[in-house]
Amino acid sequence: MTEQEQILALREELHRHNYNYYVLNSPEISDKEFDDKMRLLQDLEKLHPEMQDPNSPTMRVGSDLSNDFKQVYHQYPMLSLGNTYSKTEVTDFYNRVQELLEGEAFEICCELKFDGTSISLTYEDGKLIQAVTRGDGEKGDDVTANVKTIRSIPLVLHGDYPQRFEIRGEILMPWVVFEELNREREAREEPLFANPRNAASGTLKLQNSSIVASRKLDAYLYYLLGEQVPCEGHYENMQKAATWGFKISEHMRKVKTLDEVFAFLDYWDTERKNLPVATDGVVLKVNSLRQQRHMGFTAKSPRWAIAYKFQAERALTRLNQVTFQVGRTGVITPVANLDPVQLSGTIVKRASLHNADIIEGLDLHIGDMVYVEKGGEIIPKITGVDVNARSFMMGDKVRFITRCPECGTPLVRFEGEAAHYCPNDVGCPPQIKGKIEHFISRKAMAIDGLGPETVDAFYQIGLVKNIADLYSLRAIDIRGLDRMGDKSALRIVHGVADSKQVPFERVLFALGIRFVGETAAKKLAKAFGNIEALEQASLEQLMEVDEIGEKIAQSVVTYFSLPANRELVERLKDAGLQMARQEEDESEKSDKLAGLSIVISGVFSHHSREEYKEMIERNGGKNVGSISSKTSFVLAGENMGPAKLEKAQKLGVRIINEDEFLQMLL
Ligand code: IVH
Repeated sequence: MTEQEQILALREELHRHNYNYYVLNSPEISDKEFDDKMRLLQDLEKLHPEMQDPNSPTMRVGSDLSNDFKQVYHQYPMLSLGNTYSKTEVTDFYNRVQELLEGEAFEICCELKFDGTSISLTYEDGKLIQAVTRGDGEKGDDVTANVKTIRSIPLVLHGDYPQRFEIRGEILMPWVVFEELNREREAREEPLFANPRNAASGTLKLQNSSIVASRKLDAYLYYLLGEQVPCEGHYENMQKAATWGFKISEHMRKVKTLDEVFAFLDYWDTERKNLPVATDGVVLKVNSLRQQRHMGFTAKSPRWAIAYKFQAERALTRLNQVTFQVGRTGVITPVANLDPVQLSGTIVKRASLHNADIIEGLDLHIGDMVYVEKGGEIIPKITGVDVNARSFMMGDKVRFITRCPECGTPLVRFEGEAAHYCPNDVGCPPQIKGKIEHFISRKAMAIDGLGPETVDAFYQIGLVKNIADLYSLRAIDIRGLDRMGDKSALRIVHGVADSKQVPFERVLFALGIRFVGETAAKKLAKAFGNIEALEQASLEQLMEVDEIGEKIAQSVVTYFSLPANRELVERLKDAGLQMARQEEDESEKSDKLAGLSIVISGVFSHHSREEYKEMIERNGGKNVGSISSKTSFVLAGENMGPAKLEKAQKLGVRIINEDEFLQMLL
């Protein structure tokens, strides 16, 4: 087989595996095998630029090129659906259909209403050629590059598809992905997404499609349009589309009677909580396309369909008090303290009020009866006030505080931001404690023996008031505190002493400069080399560093402009912390692995994968992604992928474990 033929074969194979995995949920090969094939295809495509194909499976990884979204007119406008929350109106809809069809028999297709962001896909000759958002219904954004990264959307179809058609559906962020994304954002102090719908639409509009690829979006299709749709029924068309490779919900049902419709509504009202993606209702559609045409459209929506929305679960309870919490970064969060109430299986006592604008918008008063909802959001929120329940003895109006509840400093609000902050980051107790907790955490200084409770205890008695104080701790000072024995006290003192060896980039991360996460700290450490150079860097110099934008740069400048921070850094330097990047030690370099091509696979216990990669390079070797006959050996940890193992064995490539590898470098 020539390389060109191999490219074609791999593309076809990968499209098939992709479909098996992401649409059918039944993979035939392991993830590793899949990745290996993908990498092989990428390599071959690089060698053969003349074989470029916009629908190759390699397009799934996205690119760093900035997307500029062209506006595109929809061939058929993207209408919305009439909405209702009431079964009476569903009955009205059913009766109206009956009337308009003058007594003719009809079927209703019941399907879930997915709560994401809608998309219209155009296929020509079995290939995805365009993906456009709903926009204003008439025209939307061309987000094709981003949509191609969504694995459940086929780039190439199989079977007897029409030559050209449009198919519409919903792009979704599964709950697990959403929760993980928010956890990461919280750690990086970025604003959280309120729900998976916002996260999905925000992701689809990202400029960088490789980030879109990493967000693991999913998609369900629910509407086929075109001159040559194959069947006379909507349900049948969707089943057909499934055979071409589309992901169609398996929960669609065709029914005849109103009772059957209600049974579907009732079933999914509770069962939807077990689905991996968010849904907010049920869509009912007259199944026959002929009958649909006969019924037609109003200006805004089809007469042959209706959306029944599930009531967000809601409870009514009394607002007793509003308290204000101060976070590690000084953000003030207003919290409603409520009479305990049962909501979707848990007892709710507190709800977030988000910010001053929300409180103002609700016109909240203490003692109000308030509605609490858990509609897809992480923390329950207050969505309204039952004003009729107010008596003449109305409580005080809830007002946002003007001073920090912990330290009394006047709060600030930055232009364009909803949140209030306490700016006293060096003197406000929760901010100080938060900073110390961050400093000792595993990814920062990793100080053994110290945890948040101990930090709190030390802080309470004035023993540790900032991170530099940790380095003056003596075992005799802490023995006996917080039920601490000699051993624990010594462990802390030793842990603190050991942390003086932690490399500069982690010290920089540990300082807790706002927006300076692990990656930014690494980049800054590498670019400036030591803390003095960083302290003196201008905004422009900082922004010249790869991946450092204005927000981070400004935050670094602000940090070092405060005398208290400079003093703190000075004390840490005196304590002996690493404040300069260790020059890569020439003596650590060797040519022990010169000329060797090494594949790393599996999970390791002595060093991270990254560290092994560095070791290979430092010793003259080359770390490569996939096994070939040219591979010198595989450095294998636990759980090496079965496909890699098989390939290595087949090609007779040696497999070496961690210990053997480390021996080689001695
Ligand atoms: S059918 C002309 N089916 O709900 C009918 N829509 O307001 C086209 N949606 O914009 C829509 N699940 O984003 C249809 N199973 C489903 C749906 C669905 C979610 C969304 C869609 C549409 C909105 C209706």
